[in-house]
Amino acid sequence: MNFSEQDFIIEKLPPELPEEISFHAQAPSNIALVKYWGKKGLQLPMNTSLSFTLSESKTITKARARRLPEPSGEVDFIFYFEGKKAGEKFYRKLRTFFNRIAPYAPYIKHYQWTFESQNTFPHSSGIASSASGFAALARIVMQLEKEIFEDAGNEDFELVKTSFLARLGSGSASRSVAGPVMIWGQHREISGTSDLYAIRRDGLHTYFQDFSDLIILVDKGQKQVSSTRGHSLIDEHPFKNPRIETAQKNALAILRALETGDAETFGDILEAEALMLHALMMTSRPNYLLMRPDTLAIIETTRAIRKETGIPAYFTLDAGANVHILLPGKDKEIFQQTLFSTLKKSFDIIPDRISV
Ligand code: PMV
Repeated sequence: MNFSEQDFIIEKLPPELPEEISFHAQAPSNIALVKYWGKKGLQLPMNTSLSFTLSESKTITKARARRLPEPSGEVDFIFYFEGKKAGEKFYRKLRTFFNRIAPYAPYIKHYQWTFESQNTFPHSSGIASSASGFAALARIVMQLEKEIFEDAGNEDFELVKTSFLARLGSGSASRSVAGPVMIWGQHREISGTSDLYAIRRDGLHTYFQDFSDLIILVDKGQKQVSSTRGHSLIDEHPFKNPRIETAQKNALAILRALETGDAETFGDILEAEALMLHALMMTSRPNYLLMRPDTLAIIETTRAIRKETGIPAYFTLDAGANVHILLPGKDKEIFQQTLFSTLKKSFDIIPDRISV
């Protein structure tokens, strides 16, 4: 079933809203196999993307909401991140998020909110926390919606609306609401897909059910170019249309590979997508380069280990220098040992797993 934007709008609230209420929510991080890069309209994706949901890297958020005598003009909130009041930049992002979701969740303006949030992964690791962070907030908002409207809709609607709200915070957050595989962005051959929210796909072949993501930390610093800026550079990009077409083809082909257990097709597309994302960055105007020498060394060594040992380990990259190695869980120790001994260098690794 497809939902339209209209389906998420709330026109009228009941006269009695709960007085005071506490929430606890968590949301996972995700790793895109087919990358979202480029937007249109208000946080709509230029192309279809598809991700694995992770099981260890999460954001955990608690909230307390106290009803106000009158609804406020803007959402009234305080936000603590890992015990400290969040900085002004983060506040601006949150304000934008709350303003965007207000038509679909007008009850949030009737409360004074205190949020306390933390990640299970190190703060300065260079892992984006916006996906899991906004997805956790969207879950809290939907918990309140369920309290207010007892007939708030079924589980499918709840999932889809959570994804819809999370998307308005950060595009990739739309995919951080369920697992194991999420698809965001309309696809002409995958039914149920939408630009407005991500949908869940199960039916993952057993081959992928004990699958690891070793996140190798190459650069723990701030990104030189923000994702927001990166997305905007696609508007005038000479490869914009071929990119949209390639993502359509790759999303369908990788989905089939995930369902049939075709490790080789999965790996080919995974690596091609990572390199295409970075190729788009390197060929935009202005151009920029986020890979570091160690990123390339890890990529080349991964390919060499695969060739020599047969371990089906494949890499992917986000908008940064860190490398994600996806491989069967049983191979992760031997792969890591071989990688470090070949490189004659070690890196911090965040070990994660695909959530099933
Ligand atoms: O959600 P954003 O705006 O931070 O964009 C993230 C884009 C990539 O991580 C590079 C790719 C993806 O699909 O997650």
